[in-house]
Amino acid sequence: MSALNKIARTMVSGRRGILAADESIGTMSSRLEKVGVEPTEENRRVYRELIVTTPQLSESISGVILADETFRQKLSDGRTFPRFLDDIGVLAGIKVDTGAKPLAGAPDEKITEGLDGLRERVAEYVRLGGTFAKWRAVITIGDGMPSDRAVRANVHALARYAGLCQEGGLVPIVEPEVLMDGDHSLAKCRQVTTAVLEVLFEELDLMQVQLDGIVLKPNMVVAGTGSPEQPSVADVAKATVETLRETVPASVPGIAFLSGGQSPELATKHLGAMQGLDPLPWELTYSFGRALVGPALETWRGDNDNWAAAQKALSERAVANAAAR
Ligand code: 13P
Repeated sequence: MSALNKIARTMVSGRRGILAADESIGTMSSRLEKVGVEPTEENRRVYRELIVTTPQLSESISGVILADETFRQKLSDGRTFPRFLDDIGVLAGIKVDTGAKPLAGAPDEKITEGLDGLRERVAEYVRLGGTFAKWRAVITIGDGMPSDRAVRANVHALARYAGLCQEGGLVPIVEPEVLMDGDHSLAKCRQVTTAVLEVLFEELDLMQVQLDGIVLKPNMVVAGTGSPEQPSVADVAKATVETLRETVPASVPGIAFLSGGQSPELATKHLGAMQGLDPLPWELTYSFGRALVGPALETWRGDNDNWAAAQKALSERAVANAAAR
């Protein structure tokens, strides 16, 4: 078993999943402001300390994805975030993309940037205690979208990122997110997700990415948030698993879903409903952001009297997702 395969399997096996706490400075700041917290570097640090010090976190969380700022910050006791996570038996991950920017010639579509200098950044994150990385590509469904060039450009970047991570010793989380925004049907989401995953695996093959040393982080196959016809939990589970069975090779050790704006409870129900749909050639788990930490942030609101209640809110989501597995 290769070192990368061992890390990837640790990330997805048992009942555990991955916690995405890697919001960019801009995104984290606006989420803090929404709950009345001043968006300072220190408040972002304190909030992330609340997340990672949640009691018994390691029972349901195998890894935490951090942003560059947090990766270099310290907890109140002086330990760095990666060091603290290692001490509690949780892997430290790092978001290495630098964000989704408008794609030239297609202003309503995005291309994720961050390849320049990535080899050197990967080496630095490994030195600082990182074991895995994340890169998120976003695909929009809409009038004439996604275009072939948006899909091709994004999977190309994902594959080059994955190759650089593996070369440097990090397991890449490969995240091609088909967004829920829009009024499209479940069938449309399925069609686009299938097309994206097909070209993604062609491109990963072209770049000689070792499939047993990645974790795939896709969207679930759902209807657009504006669609008048919202599918049942069973329909989402079935469409998602069928789509993945058609496109994702069995050598991929695990698939860890993003939540994408689903409510925490619904994301958990969807995950649970998928587990019974044999045969599943890979582990199916969670790598939620909002669906794990949303209730905790709402509870905390910057008031340390709410610290324990906020940690309890996170713990409840994490335990519910582990149970759904
Ligand atoms: P959500 O679960 O909030 O979609 O976030 C997951 C993630 O890591 C997005 O890149």
